[in-house]
Amino acid sequence: MIIAVDGPVAAGKGTLARRLAAALDYGYLDTGSIYRAVAARILAGGGDPEDHDLAAQTAENLQPGDLERDDLRREAVGQAASKVAANQAVREALLAFQRRFAVQPPGGKTGAVLDGRDIGTVVCPDAHVKLFLTASMEARARRRHKELLERGEESIYARVLQDLRERDARDSGRETAPLKAAEDALRLDTSEMDADQVFAAAIAEITKRQRP
Ligand code: DC
Repeated sequence: MIIAVDGPVAAGKGTLARRLAAALDYGYLDTGSIYRAVAARILAGGGDPEDHDLAAQTAENLQPGDLERDDLRREAVGQAASKVAANQAVREALLAFQRRFAVQPPGGKTGAVLDGRDIGTVVCPDAHVKLFLTASMEARARRRHKELLERGEESIYARVLQDLRERDARDSGRETAPLKAAEDALRLDTSEMDADQVFAAAIAEITKRQRP
């Protein structure tokens, strides 16, 4: 069983995907962290995330340990990840790893939940269940702002809103695998929903798809 969870920044993908994986005892892959790992390595080396060849090389040489870096959740890394993710050579280099995880999740699990931008459209177009989460720009900015403050990071709401706008535009406007809902995805607008409601809606969809 493969479950794809796609959507823009701070729509609640990570929270839902982690919860589904725990409830169903499936493997979980946060595919954004792979793009973040490429970006973090480039920034740490003083490189430019928009340097095409450097980004491609970094993606090709990515090590499992890079996914454990403690700077992956930083806002600067998220912005750089969105730049790196527009590079087709980077996306190709990271595709096989994601597909392998989906088909053969580690630990012999019987299913996998992947969250990202292009899981239902490109990485796993045959996923059994596809969920596409959205929320208004303001709802997402509020959530991200709160999350940053809770993590002890400095955050200015207006700046968070601006960063979201830029990342949305880049992630949706790029030529390769842009952020968009698969035609057969269930769309959930989470602006007015809490995590429990989103989880319940996802479980209802999974149950429906499991019926013969
Ligand atoms: O979900 P996130 O914020 O951790 O993702 C960081 C960036 O990586 C995001 O701006 C776009 C890119 N990304 C992508 O292009 N495709 C994915 N499947 C996941 C993330």
